[in-house]
Amino acid sequence: MNRRRKIYEGKAKILFEGPEPGTLIQYFKDDATAGNGAKHEVIDGKGVLNNRISEFVFTKLNELGIPTHFIRRVNMREQLIKEVEIIPLEIIVRNVAAGSLAKRLGLEPGTRLPRSIIEFSYKDDALGDPMVSEEHITAFGWATPAELDDIMSLAVRVNDFLAGLFMGVGIQLVDFKIEVGRLFEGDLMRIVLADEISPDNCRLWDIKTRNKMDKDRFREDLGGLVESYREVAQRLGILVETDNALATGPRLVQ
Ligand code: TMP
Repeated sequence: MNRRRKIYEGKAKILFEGPEPGTLIQYFKDDATAGNGAKHEVIDGKGVLNNRISEFVFTKLNELGIPTHFIRRVNMREQLIKEVEIIPLEIIVRNVAAGSLAKRLGLEPGTRLPRSIIEFSYKDDALGDPMVSEEHITAFGWATPAELDDIMSLAVRVNDFLAGLFMGVGIQLVDFKIEVGRLFEGDLMRIVLADEISPDNCRLWDIKTRNKMDKDRFREDLGGLVESYREVAQRLGILVETDNALATGPRLVQ
């Protein structure tokens, strides 16, 4: 089979040329990394689950009128997306203290924040994705002030949607990271959600047990990562539980 041209390979995903101009294929790998690649493992089944969870979330966001790059899932590991010009920022939204914020400010993990907080990191592996302020972003021209306004309102809308979605299935949305890009349509340009939304880039805690159901299971060597991701998918109604689900892997409902 003729393999498509590879456009970009990241730590957890590969982008291939799409079937039509202005489209790409986003392929979800099983690789898990942490500490900017210092820790790396291949976790069988993670890519399939993230593809499916991200499809679910992006489809709902599109339906709500929150613009995304997502067109449709094409198979177990791939989705068709619109090609966008990625803005070199990681946008982190936090509802509860955890991770680097808890460490930086000496907060007890699990403390609810006075309000949702948005942080930015400059996407640069060599520099370890340093945290930056709105001043850096506009001064260095990574985004204009108007784009930054759009990015922040997009991030708040995504947070409101995700927090409600997960609360409905007994999961607390602690924080998450998104990426955005510029989508050019004729003379128009708009900021759209890109990348993925999955337990790889969210902190998800079970409301009852306080168990972690996200990539912290890998970062903190807790084990059971795929089982947790599968549980998230099952609660969202994406996968149905089968007697031998662990042996046979995820079974698609749709
Ligand atoms: P942090 O507490 O380590 O700064 O992470 C905040 C959120 O962002 C958490 O949900 C994990 C996510 N995240 C990524 O998706 N990619 C990254 O490279 C980092 C550092 C965090």
